[in-house]
Amino acid sequence: MENFKIIAVENENQLARCLSVRREVFVNEQQVPEELEVDDYDRLDSTAKHVVVEGSNGDAAAARFIPYKDGAAKMQRVAVRSAYRGQGLGRVLMSGLEDAARQAGYSRCILDSQCHAEGFYRSLGYRTLPGEPFYDAGILHVRMEKELQ
Ligand code: COA
Repeated sequence: MENFKIIAVENENQLARCLSVRREVFVNEQQVPEELEVDDYDRLDSTAKHVVVEGSNGDAAAARFIPYKDGAAKMQRVAVRSAYRGQGLGRVLMSGLEDAARQAGYSRCILDSQCHAEGFYRSLGYRTLPGEPFYDAGILHVRMEKELQ
């Protein structure tokens, strides 16, 4: 595996790099409307924390978390560019995001997983909460959670 660097976003340029990865994955590939994909958490002065994963040939992945109720962090917008999938980079991305959540004082995280990605999150220690799958942005999801040790 090539060397990847996890960057905790601190400036507008890094944030724009996250949005660029996400646009390619969610808007172009998954056809999520851009007005749903980008929201008020995608501002530097919001309560969200973003990470971008940089490879030797450019950015490979991005994700964010936002504060959620009951003191949990909610992981969102988890995106690995298609050319980088299946090589463990999603694991690297989630590990960086969970580290950032721990550093921010969170001991638990939740996420809404697209159903096709449930096995991915399960392999990282997330468990699916009881309840029917639901649609968000036209894609079927389940809610999952994990304690951050
Ligand atoms: N179903 C089941 N298991 C999966 C999986 C899937 N769709 N995708 C990956 N895994 C498993 C891998 O086999 C691997 O398991 P192992 O460590 O036991 O070998 C583990 O999850 C980590 O895989 P990794 O290679 O790090 O995943 P990835 O880099 O391919 O990234 C996604 C996975 C889901 C982030 C990536 O496919 C993606 O960005 N998809 C498009 C955007 C998306 O759907 N995001 C999720 C929104 S909820």
